[in-house]
Amino acid sequence: MNFELKAMDLVAAADEKCDVLVLLVPKSFKAAKDDLSQLVGAALKSGDLETGVGKVLSLYRPLQAAGVRVVLASVGEGGAREVRSAVVAALGVAKSANLKRLCVCFAAPAQEAAVRAAVLAVADATYTYTFSKSKPQPRTVQRVLIGARNAAETKTTFDRAVAIVSGVELAKEWANRPANLATPKHLGSAAQDLAKHPKIECTVLGPKEVAKLGMGSFMAVAQGSEEPLRFIVLRYNGAAKTKAPTVLVGKGITFDSGGISIKPAPDMDEMKFDMSGAASVLGTFKTLGLLKPAINVVGLIAACENLINGKAVKPGDVVTSMSGQTIEILNTDAEGRLILCDALTYAERFKPTAVVDIATLTGACVIALGAVRSGMFASQDTLAQSLSEAGDRSQDLCWRMPLDEEYAEGLKTNFADVANVAGRAAGSVTAAKFLQRFADKYPWAHLDIAGSAWKSGAQKGATGRPVGLLVEFLLAQAHGK
Ligand code: BES
Ligand code: MN
Ligand code: ZN
Repeated sequence: MNFELKAMDLVAAADEKCDVLVLLVPKSFKAAKDDLSQLVGAALKSGDLETGVGKVLSLYRPLQAAGVRVVLASVGEGGAREVRSAVVAALGVAKSANLKRLCVCFAAPAQEAAVRAAVLAVADATYTYTFSKSKPQPRTVQRVLIGARNAAETKTTFDRAVAIVSGVELAKEWANRPANLATPKHLGSAAQDLAKHPKIECTVLGPKEVAKLGMGSFMAVAQGSEEPLRFIVLRYNGAAKTKAPTVLVGKGITFDSGGISIKPAPDMDEMKFDMSGAASVLGTFKTLGLLKPAINVVGLIAACENLINGKAVKPGDVVTSMSGQTIEILNTDAEGRLILCDALTYAERFKPTAVVDIATLTGACVIALGAVRSGMFASQDTLAQSLSEAGDRSQDLCWRMPLDEEYAEGLKTNFADVANVAGRAAGSVTAAKFLQRFADKYPWAHLDIAGSAWKSGAQKGATGRPVGLLVEFLLAQAHGK
């Protein structure tokens, strides 16, 4: 799918030959003299186009425009969120097998955030998964023209949004693939593929190297599976070697059965998405490769399955992490933190400016925040603020959660330095408190994306979050923010 940006008023939009023309109409729309403007004005005046955000009016071959179908969609004040719902609603009525050329035109000057929202919403609404279908029906849309009178002013934002779409779609693709076709090995080669880019390097470690590093906690999770683990080290080198990197750490559990503390059967298939954090790191690197910002970024992915066999780790087993801290594994289903803690220790060697881990870590985070905002924990206020703002800018929202020391109380045990679970209360916070013990050498943040990384039900599928947030966060570092 090819995105283009074009300076366009309604006269030009009327001339645009396309299968679907979506006109984004703000509440304050004032009709000019041209026919298409008059049509929009009349639709608003009569009330046939309601001004509520996402209300649409669909037309077929209207004489006023060259588009086969024209959809008028209300965007209220024209903000990012409003544009997103309007585009999704418009494509909902206009998506068809014939939709190859799409034009989305702002009927009033577009805000930058709204241009970005339009690009991301078109991509999201037209994404189609085909990898494991015998008769793939790929997305039909080939060309997407984004038009606005002030298009030129929004060019940088537009280019960035198009690059983010590539990253989001790579993340979606890997998260959506079934666990038998997206094993730790497959993730390793996906990362190697990214290293074809001149600024990206990749090293993939296997069980022997990981044992040598002393990652006893990571290895404990992997030991119940026939699939060998992978530890992936990606580097994006956009700045001088002397410039300290930001490190992203992704949870790459390619399937989470829970282990001996096995999960209930209903919806267990969704645990193929338990590598969404890893997928978001791959996606972010893809976007970095396209945008080539002057920063250094390291991506670490701990990838393995959490399964059950005769060698599987058992509740009560004590393992030694790479940091030297011993961990009593009271619940084998709290495996994410066990693989992340060793990756967090490994991150120390880069002397990073900040480390952000991304993980589908706790069901408790889904209860706390649902699918709207990812949970965000940070050891420093400035880092928390940067992540919040990056989330707002990209409309890939997060919400800061607490890290008071009292929350760590339940992790105490008589048999090791720390237990891997506390009680049921504040489950996403106690998980973060566990991780924090391994992240004391640098500014650290943790994104719990258990609720935001995928959708369940009829729309089941990965969202590609939080690639948008991560890219915005990293680019802000490039600008010294
Ligand atoms: N991958 C799950 C978390 C999860 C559950 C994400 C449901 C999205 C939907 C994680 O490994 C897990 O099983 N966490 C446990 C922790 C508990 C044992 C302390 C959980 O949340 O139940
Ligand atoms: Mn689990
Ligand atoms: Zn898990």
